[in-house]
Amino acid sequence: MEIIATHSFRGGSGKSFLALNLAAVSARTGLKTVIMDCDFGSPSFQSNLPTENIPKSFGNSFLLNTTEYDKILTPTKISNLDAIFADPRPILGQGLLEVTEKPHLQALQQFSLLREKLEKEGYERLFLDISPNLCYSSANALTISDSIILIHRPVIHSLDITLHVIQTIYSTLKRSLKPRNFYLIYNQVPHGTPEKIEKLLSKLTTEFKKSLDIKVLGTISLDPTMDFWDSLLIIEGSDLLDTMKQMVDKLP
Ligand SMILES: Nc1ncnc2c1ncn2[C@@H]1O[C@H](COP(=O)(O)OP(=O)(O)OP(=O)(O)O)[C@@H](O)[C@H]1O
Ligand SMILES: [Mg+2]
Repeated sequence: MEIIATHSFRGGSGKSFLALNLAAVSARTGLKTVIMDCDFGSPSFQSNLPTENIPKSFGNSFLLNTTEYDKILTPTKISNLDAIFADPRPILGQGLLEVTEKPHLQALQQFSLLREKLEKEGYERLFLDISPNLCYSSANALTISDSIILIHRPVIHSLDITLHVIQTIYSTLKRSLKPRNFYLIYNQVPHGTPEKIEKLLSKLTTEFKKSLDIKVLGTISLDPTMDFWDSLLIIEGSDLLDTMKQMVDKLP
């Protein structure tokens, strides 16, 4: 099973949007897929992922070892796609928002157990929607992942911090024994003359590649019709679906 995390240095860059749609497209290609909401501070699947029934229990409870594996998988309305929701009630999710190490060391062990259990059941891909930047829980999710997709909004002022994420967090992960793939998606790319945009993205890619072997998975423009209140799941027939398919085809 390939574990794939969507990550960025700041909120609102499209981690949940991409995790949900890449997982949905992955499932549609016939791969047995699961998606887990690991953004424990602000879970977003509740309002974005239609399911057959309400979750019996939550991923954060499993990571804290207060619930059983059998209770955390919820079938979604998309065939081949199951979801692991995060408990939105802060009181229950609290352990993983704490800044002490203990719950997170346990969570890392539970993550390994989760991988084992899912592999036994024949799951082929696990997508993780994680918190931005670095906190204990995003560090755990990045550690357990085989592939990391960095989402970057190409606004000039965020280049330095994204570079910092690559040079510190990803470079450290790269040096560990576990092999990992690093990918980049440019999202919410502003509209402009194609040549100007292409030049900007190519300049950014050159900068990123100086620090890490990172492959560009694709580019998604800022879609002015995307309403803040809409579900993050793309509807059938949307042009964006083809872009997502091309990205999914490039994943291991
Ligand atoms: N390419 C795009 N064009 C227009 N709107 C977009 C695009 N990508 C994402 N959005 C919108 O931006 C908002 C933030 O996206 P999303 O919730 O996926 O970000 P996030 O990185 O998960 O944020 P957070 O860190 O807060 O969880 C959403 O309302 C989404 O609909
Ligand atoms: Mg999110």
